Amino acid sequence: MNISVIGTGYVGLVSGTCFAEAGNKVTCVDIDAQKVEHMQNGYVPIYEPGLELLFERNSRQGRLKFTTDLVNTVKNSDIIFLALPTPPGVDGSADLSFVLKVAEQISGIIDKYTVIVDKSTVPVGTAEKVEAILEKKLSKDLFDVVANPEFLREGAAIDDFLKPDRVVIGTTSLRAREKMQLLYGPFVRQGNPIIFMDQRSAEMTKYAANAYLATRISFMNEIANLCETVGANVDYVRKGMGSDGRIGKRFLFPGIGYGGSCFPKDVQALSKTAHQVAYNFKILDAVMGVNELQKQRITEKIKTYFGDDLKGKKIAIWGIAFKPNTDDIREAPALTIIRQLLDMNAEISAFDPEAMENAKGEFSDLITFGEDQYDVLDQADALCILTEWSVFRTPDFDQMKKLMKKPIVFDGRNLYDLEPMREVGFLL
Ligand SMILES: NC(=O)c1ccc[n+]([C@@H]2O[C@H](COP(=O)([O-])OP(=O)(O)OC[C@H]3O[C@@H](n4cnc5c(N)ncnc54)[C@H](O)[C@@H]3O)[C@@H](O)[C@H]2O)c1
Repeated sequence: MNISVIGTGYVGLVSGTCFAEAGNKVTCVDIDAQKVEHMQNGYVPIYEPGLELLFERNSRQGRLKFTTDLVNTVKNSDIIFLALPTPPGVDGSADLSFVLKVAEQISGIIDKYTVIVDKSTVPVGTAEKVEAILEKKLSKDLFDVVANPEFLREGAAIDDFLKPDRVVIGTTSLRAREKMQLLYGPFVRQGNPIIFMDQRSAEMTKYAANAYLATRISFMNEIANLCETVGANVDYVRKGMGSDGRIGKRFLFPGIGYGGSCFPKDVQALSKTAHQVAYNFKILDAVMGVNELQKQRITEKIKTYFGDDLKGKKIAIWGIAFKPNTDDIREAPALTIIRQLLDMNAEISAFDPEAMENAKGEFSDLITFGEDQYDVLDQADALCILTEWSVFRTPDFDQMKKLMKKPIVFDGRNLYDLEPMREVGFLL
């Protein structure tokens, strides 16, 4: 099939590449001409494990192309995916302007039956809005709009896309359903379901999933805070809880709060949807409140240890990305924490295996960046761990102690067990 993907970011590029890997002819469209030129020259603009290999193979074999030419791409497509940003608007609800603008543009181009698929995370009712825009210029029998939310995780996106737990397809059109079934069939050969439903339910499914996962994180953060106060070890508690089949082991890791380009904005947007229909979604407000407080906890601990003014203190940072295996720093808790430490006059030296280029854009020369994880420890008064990259899990503790002024670690991701660390002379 001829597929076009409009918006070539974390979701669009991974989706387009994986559809090409299944044998489709895919054209990815983006308005960022420089990014398109880079991709045409074989450069992958994001860090995502496994992407480069598929990108290279499918580009070389002519199944994956990049362009800024919306008109010709849309004309030749059987299915058009919208993988556009839906950032928070000023009031916290999802800003649909990117999606609706492209709907308006393509409505004047389509000239044969085409399925328009919304892959962006969008509030309930958006597919109907897109339909209404298309209907202004297009006969109803020339298109269907499908809601197909994406559940991939950055850092594991290729695996998630090629072998999804489930595919959610929101449409009541049989024609569109058949095309989507054909397209996704190769990705669910192991028997994972393609779940068909109406558009509104599909749109809600994505928000419900993200809000629930964010709730688990905030819940565990509160359990961890309580454990600290009453003398329990949250790591044991997590294992004890997670072994219960009804609960499951995943998303029970406490830390410095959730971040990234999805959870914060999606929880906020769902809360906004609820407010708009006068429903008081109490849990969501608590989830967001807990998350904001959680980002303060590590700086509060640093304050308790060093005092309010960190002038003359060097704090080393390990990890800036919002989670491991990505270069994405959007809404990363590390950004908030680094800003708090800068406000307290600390000198910051940071290292992240993949996110430093993006972080340089954020902080320019306000902080320094190390060549590797040990480089930043030289004469540091303390180390703060803000992303749980594997490479931080079993570092050379002797080398760390030699480099640091004092062996103090603020372990924001609970990487280390307290007792063994104390035995080798660290203060946690
Ligand atoms: N990032 C994730 O892990 C993830 C996971 C699931 C769902 N989502 C959702 O998918 C959507 C896209 O997210 P993302 O992280 O890929 O965004 P992104 O910011 O990484 O990428 C968006 C791309 O769209 C391009 N763009 C903007 N306007 C355009 C236009 N008019 N025409 C063509 N291209 C245009 C931008 O230049 C950019 O390359 C969002 O709704 C997001 O919530 C994201």
